[in-house]
Amino acid sequence: MGNGNPRRRPRKKKLANRVDDVLDATHEQSAPTPDLELPQENDGVKSEFESTKNPQDTETHTPEKVRELGKDKKEISEDPSYPSTDLTDDDLGDFLNNKQGKGTYSEDSLSLTLKVWRQSGPNARGRFETYLVENISEDMSFLEMFDVLNENLINEGIEPVEIASDCREGICGTCGCMINGKAHGPEKATATCQLHMRKFKDGDTIVVEPWQAASFPIIKDLVVDRSPMDRIIESGGFITVPTGSAPDANLIPVPKDAADTAFDAAACIGCGACIAACPNSAAQLFTSAKVQHLNLLPQGQAERWSRTEDMVEKMEEYFGSCTNHGECHEACPKEIPLDFIAYTNRDYVKSKRKNRKLLGQG
Ligand code: SF4
Ligand code: FES
Repeated sequence: MGNGNPRRRPRKKKLANRVDDVLDATHEQSAPTPDLELPQENDGVKSEFESTKNPQDTETHTPEKVRELGKDKKEISEDPSYPSTDLTDDDLGDFLNNKQGKGTYSEDSLSLTLKVWRQSGPNARGRFETYLVENISEDMSFLEMFDVLNENLINEGIEPVEIASDCREGICGTCGCMINGKAHGPEKATATCQLHMRKFKDGDTIVVEPWQAASFPIIKDLVVDRSPMDRIIESGGFITVPTGSAPDANLIPVPKDAADTAFDAAACIGCGACIAACPNSAAQLFTSAKVQHLNLLPQGQAERWSRTEDMVEKMEEYFGSCTNHGECHEACPKEIPLDFIAYTNRDYVKSKRKNRKLLGQG
């Protein structure tokens, strides 16, 4: 009926039919495939390849050539600007015994007296032991210096000092100890594993102790049980909204200021130095960093008020209360700002009211 109307637009063909038409037309227009002539052996292709080969690649090392190479090597070894690489057995012995050996240590090696806290178990009586370590390179890290001490102790049949470490690059937070009375030692914003021996002088005495806080019982020597920090994280340091995989990260717009501030909080490595440095063994800086790196982001809003209340109250089960000394920030290897404690106090007050409302009591 409609076909009789000349103004009506012709019906479109189905998509599948249009694709078939395009394919048919392409086949009809394409020129017949020419017979392929494959290159024969020894034809131009191969001989071109042969002509690009470097004749030296296949050069045979005749006895004359070998003698010539040996002469060059001798000239190099006699050049005084080249360091000697010939180590004698004596040098190797010195190296293995950690004595100053030719070409092994720099002139600036240190001899140090270490007073190290030794305690064989959680309930054992502890004491300071004094050890002498020599030929410590200024370029060694504090943990590498302990590796030298422990090798010496093992060679002497003495049990090595237990000291925790994992990443040795300032990100896992396991390596902390008190060095000369300071959490993580004398260099500001530096974890124990990132502290270098150039911060000490030849002849120095270094006192090394474990973290001191009632909530961090000693497991052995310099290793303490930091699991109360894990209890705080378990109580609210998570989000439940699905955020997709890494490529989906940009689908949720985050204001730049919020992203930067959350990132500052997320720099906390959970080392516990803030707690060890605090006269009250308070965990406010650690807890507030872990609360705020989620509370500041859109993805963290769903649990914002329950997270704040739960984490702060779990913290108070284990640790002392903050009295605004600020020692935590001074000791922190990641320089977590005290502002996060203020943000968390504000969120905690709000959370008490909001969570009561959610329970129908507000
Ligand atoms: S706030 Fe600083 S000192 Fe405290 S656990 Fe985190 S990184 Fe360590
Ligand atoms: S060993 Fe990981 S932070 Fe020091």
